[in-house]
Amino acid sequence: MPFGDAAAFGCYQTGRPDGIFFVKLMNILGLNFFHANASAALMVDGKLVAAAEEERFNRVKFSAGVPLCAIGYCMKQAGLQFKDIDVITYPRATNTRIVNKDQIHFQDRIYKVTSLYDRYRINLKLINFKEMVADHFGIPVESLVFKLREEDHHLSHMLSGFLYSPFDEALVLSCDAFGDFVSVKAGVGRGNRIEIVRQVEFPHSIGLFYTMVTQFLGFNGYGDESKVMGLSTYGYPEYTDKLRTIISADHGTLRLNLKFFNQESGVGTTWADQTPDITQLYNENLTRLIGDQRRPEEEITGRHQNIAASVQHLTEEIVFDLIEDLYSAHPITNLVLTGGLAYNSLLNARIIDETPIQKIYVPPSPGNSGLALGSALAFLGDQAQRAPMDHAFWGPEYSIRDIEEALTSAGVASEELSDPIERAVELLISGRAIGWFQGRMEFGPRSLGSRCILVNPLAPDPRRIKRRHNLKPLGISILEEHASAYLHSVQHSPFMSFMGRLKGKHRREFENVTLNNYCRYQTVGPENPLLRQLLLRFKEKSRLPFLINTSLNVEGEPVTESPRQLIADIGRMRLDAAIIGEYLVTSREGSGEVSGRDSG
Ligand SMILES: [Fe+2]
Repeated sequence: MPFGDAAAFGCYQTGRPDGIFFVKLMNILGLNFFHANASAALMVDGKLVAAAEEERFNRVKFSAGVPLCAIGYCMKQAGLQFKDIDVITYPRATNTRIVNKDQIHFQDRIYKVTSLYDRYRINLKLINFKEMVADHFGIPVESLVFKLREEDHHLSHMLSGFLYSPFDEALVLSCDAFGDFVSVKAGVGRGNRIEIVRQVEFPHSIGLFYTMVTQFLGFNGYGDESKVMGLSTYGYPEYTDKLRTIISADHGTLRLNLKFFNQESGVGTTWADQTPDITQLYNENLTRLIGDQRRPEEEITGRHQNIAASVQHLTEEIVFDLIEDLYSAHPITNLVLTGGLAYNSLLNARIIDETPIQKIYVPPSPGNSGLALGSALAFLGDQAQRAPMDHAFWGPEYSIRDIEEALTSAGVASEELSDPIERAVELLISGRAIGWFQGRMEFGPRSLGSRCILVNPLAPDPRRIKRRHNLKPLGISILEEHASAYLHSVQHSPFMSFMGRLKGKHRREFENVTLNNYCRYQTVGPENPLLRQLLLRFKEKSRLPFLINTSLNVEGEPVTESPRQLIADIGRMRLDAAIIGEYLVTSREGSGEVSGRDSG
């Protein structure tokens, strides 16, 4: 049976005598919208040409809504006009299984009537989508010939990972809170197809369980699960057995005990001003089970650390169980992990030690922003081609002229560098924290070489650059050939998808960098030439093969997208200097302000 709808739209994979395959020219714009992490991805002729998150442009962290700015960027990058777009895809199964969804609501009372109403309201907005686009971009609605196509949420997650992985054959697992009323989907990927073999339906969800305990520990922000993951490294999982009362798993099945969930407010996501927010999930039964919840301003105690360690431990146990169940039916040792849970880099790292899996691929954007790309791939179906992804630089870039204009209009002094890498290394050796802005922006949340804050790990107080809660791990970028000298169980990690534990002899030396000896790491090989060159030159001078590399943003705000934003925020980011393309901008000593023209 054909997979995907592309053939019905006149898109064909064609064989040629020379054996080269191609897809008939077709422009597909994939979107994630009305959902946290709104994003756009554009595929031309079956190939990805641009992808970006809306938050980078509208400056609303995790922005939901319609990614109009990201759409505009993708079109500009590809040099296309809206009349050239054949299909717009999005990950949302609007009508399928709707009776089932209603039944879920009425049986379990955890999904609110208002949430169902919200879904219908969004469906109404979809009807007017062309008018919205025409209005925003100032074009006649008649010129928009594209068709709108909805695709399955988890299949979109899975394809965005598997088709860009290095594996011809792999187990493919997608886990999140839920999407299209499914929280886990698992399959076997072969060639360019994924056969779905398991699924867990709402409300049973490992993602909801993790978020519920995250809220209980006083972390109420969207994406705060990473703080609990960090906190877990300090604790002992003494609450694991108690938490088993809430969630149980057996041979690939999963069940939540709904008596611990707040059925008054249910599970709902709102996005006032485009900022996503999740309703409080737990109720007083959780307090009866493991004691009082922590208020956000309350000090973190050993008990909180132990609860965090327990939710992390139980989550890992359940995911390992899912993987082992899959493996026993389909003994394949490659794994592709997608869905929001794939941001849990500690869990990702432990899979190798605890299951038969030998190689793991996590895409640069495994969460919902990656659905823009995944939905386009789901549409292409059989016409989609495997294209192992060795970089994540799918976002905007700025020319020298753009950078010069930004410097001039900001009125700041700058120095043109003949060798930006050499100057970066000099600054790093002298303990300076630098902003590193080069080439196309990363797609996904990690700084991988284009929009980075770089710091020498031996600099005094390397954590000063962000007023970050001490619970989020700092990332490091390390030359891949030296990684195993510093870290246990090193994996190929070009997208900073894994946590590593420092080897004993290095622990004291780098205790400021790590969370209880753990840090998130990016392995840097020849596929990332600029960052690799910088690391090689830094190693020549310092003998260290790695740098602290954290995203180029003010804490709590989206990653910096443009030179203009970077120049404006150098002080708020506590940077000593920024290298933007070939230009150096320095901060006035101690003032956090960039130098004006008059001060040189
Ligand atoms: Fe998702």
